[in-house]
Amino acid sequence: MNEVPREAEPTTEQDMEDRQADLAEYAPPSFEEIVGETHTAAELDPNAEPVLTVENLRMYFPIKTPLMRRTVAHVQAVDGVSFQLPKGGSLGLVGESGCGKSTTGQLITRLYEPTGGSMMFEGKDLAQLKEKELKPLRREIQMIFQDPYSSLNPRHTVGAIVGEPMRVHNVVPKNQVLKRVQELLEVVGLNPEHYNRYPNEFSGGQRQRIGIARALALQPKVMVADEPVSALDVSIQAQVVNLLQDLQKEFDIAFLFIAHDLAVVRHFCPEVAVMYLGKIIEIGDRESIYANAHHPYTQALLSAVPDIKQAATGGRRERIRLTGEVPSPIDPPSGCRFRTRCPLAQEICARHEPPLLQIGKRHKVACHFPGRLGEHPREPLTARLLGVDAQGQPDPGASPVNDLVEQPGYADTWFDLDAKTIGRA
Ligand SMILES: Nc1ncnc2c1ncn2[C@@H]1O[C@H](COP(=O)(O)OP(=O)(O)O)[C@@H](O)[C@H]1O
Ligand code: SF4
Ligand SMILES: [Mg+2]
Repeated sequence: MNEVPREAEPTTEQDMEDRQADLAEYAPPSFEEIVGETHTAAELDPNAEPVLTVENLRMYFPIKTPLMRRTVAHVQAVDGVSFQLPKGGSLGLVGESGCGKSTTGQLITRLYEPTGGSMMFEGKDLAQLKEKELKPLRREIQMIFQDPYSSLNPRHTVGAIVGEPMRVHNVVPKNQVLKRVQELLEVVGLNPEHYNRYPNEFSGGQRQRIGIARALALQPKVMVADEPVSALDVSIQAQVVNLLQDLQKEFDIAFLFIAHDLAVVRHFCPEVAVMYLGKIIEIGDRESIYANAHHPYTQALLSAVPDIKQAATGGRRERIRLTGEVPSPIDPPSGCRFRTRCPLAQEICARHEPPLLQIGKRHKVACHFPGRLGEHPREPLTARLLGVDAQGQPDPGASPVNDLVEQPGYADTWFDLDAKTIGRA
């Protein structure tokens, strides 16, 4: 019997590299390659005014006993989140499952009443408004959901689904709803004659376009897109992301773009916030986050993505592996919430929560030892600012800086890590 010739096992490093190069040639095109054929990555407009300013937003879900309905604990799903969403721009929200991304998005659409904090939109605090005052503002802030299967009512036609917000908010005369629905279907790349069909007659990508048409129906200023392409194939992902990018430009819509896919976020969002256990631990422009991350958690997240790893790890090959489980948001660790999994953790990390310190023109990080990979300082940089010594014990000689309170957006001055002084734009 003839033996099938088998390729020898790679023995040297060169062999391994050749083998990997061969494999790369046969690999299907990545999201970046497909999307890049027609669309370049979205650019930051540093002069854009904020359309939404979120400050110290908190959502604690009560946990009740089944019988007495007594509150016994809280899930601290979102705990002190602050950011600004620029008009017509997009902020990406990334982090592992359960870190509070969806809850943040749902708070902005006021699906829940927040436990605390403010969300300023057009001079009004969305967190404070009662249902009646909220109704006109609900038009302005819409949501696109992850799952194009469960988010569309299977018993309603596409026309009814896309037309519903117009009827609820009474924004289009009844006899013109159909015409408007057809326009919207065309805008999102669907056949306008298909308004009488049901969701199950469409593919996943087409259903997501129906969801987008529905979200567009009221011409919102803010769109919360919660994992809008996570359920789709890579080639379809690229088409839907390109569509969102076109719509954003045409209608000047600001996106809060929630996703765990860092390649998709890098393309769509010139600015990115990284969440961990209910808090933003690093936020900045694309360059600051993807090529210059200073938080060990961001560095670990980026190192796990093959085509992003090189830039994020300064050419190092190894992936930074996080050990341990994500702690429960019911009883998060004291001080820095990441400390139970952080390879750099020291005493001060358990005693004090690191402030979200601005370390560049558009870059903030919450870590006592912030630094580029392999260049984290030995002494906690925040100690003097917090008025404590290197172990986090009170230090009468130090002078705390009181304006470390976390503000949304960026100040004109920041803490320059290299010079250890205040930097200026
Ligand atoms: N309605 C709710 N009641 C209680 N806990 C919730 C509720 N919604 C979300 N959570 C909890 O809040 C945390 C954050 O969830 P979520 O915002 O969905 O995270 P992500 O979108 O980042 O995966 C999780 O621990 C989740 O179990
Ligand atoms: S503050 Fe401490 S535990 Fe938290 S990320 Fe920085 S080094 Fe790690
Ligand atoms: Mg989610």
